[in-house]
Amino acid sequence: MPEALARIVGSVFQNPRSQFFNLDTTGEIAFGCENLGLPASEIRERVWAAARELGIEALLDRDIFALSGGEKQKIAVASAYAPGPDIFVFDEPSSNLDHAACLELAALMKRLKAQGKTLLIAEHRLYYLTGLFDRAIYLKSGEIRRDWPQKEFLALSNKERADLGLRAVSLDSLASKTENTARTNSAPTFTISGLAAGYKRGKSVLEDISFSAAPGEIIGIVGKNGQGKSTLARVLCGLHKEWSGSVVLKGKPLKSKERAGLCYLVMQESGYQLFTDSVENELLLSKSRKERPSDEKVNAILQSLWLSALRERHPMSLSGGEKQRTAIGTAMAHNAAVLIFDEPTSGLDFGNMRRVVDVLKQSADDGKIVFVITHDFELLIRACTRVLMLDRGKITSDSSLHAENLSNVKEFFS
Ligand SMILES: Nc1ncnc2c1ncn2[C@@H]1O[C@H](COP(=O)(O)OP(=O)(O)OP(=O)(O)O)[C@@H](O)[C@H]1O
Ligand SMILES: [Mg+2]
Repeated sequence: MPEALARIVGSVFQNPRSQFFNLDTTGEIAFGCENLGLPASEIRERVWAAARELGIEALLDRDIFALSGGEKQKIAVASAYAPGPDIFVFDEPSSNLDHAACLELAALMKRLKAQGKTLLIAEHRLYYLTGLFDRAIYLKSGEIRRDWPQKEFLALSNKERADLGLRAVSLDSLASKTENTARTNSAPTFTISGLAAGYKRGKSVLEDISFSAAPGEIIGIVGKNGQGKSTLARVLCGLHKEWSGSVVLKGKPLKSKERAGLCYLVMQESGYQLFTDSVENELLLSKSRKERPSDEKVNAILQSLWLSALRERHPMSLSGGEKQRTAIGTAMAHNAAVLIFDEPTSGLDFGNMRRVVDVLKQSADDGKIVFVITHDFELLIRACTRVLMLDRGKITSDSSLHAENLSNVKEFFS
């Protein structure tokens, strides 16, 4: 019985938005306790305890839909925690979380484990879980294929792990073998100057953002949760209007609305970006006959993203990662000069992460300017040629990414 189960099992779904029942954060965290019929005073106490435990007091009494991706994820964890279940089921809890938040989550999981709770965690990012899990179960085509004790799992070689399609268990081993080189010598054609934006008057989210970018560049945008990365993406693509500043593409200043077709965004919650009845139709959506990609191009995109077998499928019937790849394919089919990917690899295993890297590189080689907002260090060092760091709405560093100067970026992720 689902209600009875809810008392013992707390779940955190892959896409936090799909599990919210309330419009405000406090109500959402209280929701599970209310369903248990606890007295109001105890519910208040538990909501506070959950917020303290997760360090999210500042997010209480907020509109849920006005939170950043990582902030939503933390609310989802708090609402599973508050009723005090014995068993926790986490479905990719780290997607959307910055590095520090991942480590905080791991610390919370450790405390839960010490209290005797059972934790079941489905994940692609493994590095933050080492030292926590006792067993690793490997599923393939809906069947349990392997069941390793922790020690044996951690003893797998990098190759064995990669052959199984699994991510790295330590970020250290990655840093030394960055694969990218500078991919472009072209002059910048996209110039942002003095950009400022926000949601509430008087409280800016972005301040004085200035940088230029050239065709062929793949620029990573990194920063902690809630620093303004997705807001910047929305402003660049004309989905949210800036307060001041300018955006110039190929010498032409572009007003917010004029940027829509020229800058294309694959959103952080890309599932909400799919509108048609099949994967193939997504790639053809809203393009005039003239602009429609050729059959060969559509086939090539589907193939590069491992989507050929799914071309007839309804997007809503796809897994999180498949939806993600479909949204990425749609961006590839567009003729936009600037492509922005917001967290494109949350929900993707090792093999599909590699595919996304190839797709980003292909787009850059086709002369596009590519931005990737990411908390995924593996993606960053495999794909990006340059990294912008965003902190409290300002760019705090802008550096090219190659083996010699990786330490600066690595510091941010450790
Ligand atoms: N629609 C909105 N209305 C009001 N405030 C918002 C809205 N969307 C985001 N914010 C706030 O603006 C700030 C920046 O949010 P943004 O989504 O740009 O962060 P982010 O850097 O992408 O974070 P994350 O890594 O968690 O995705 C956050 O404090 C967030 O709470
Ligand atoms: Mg974001």
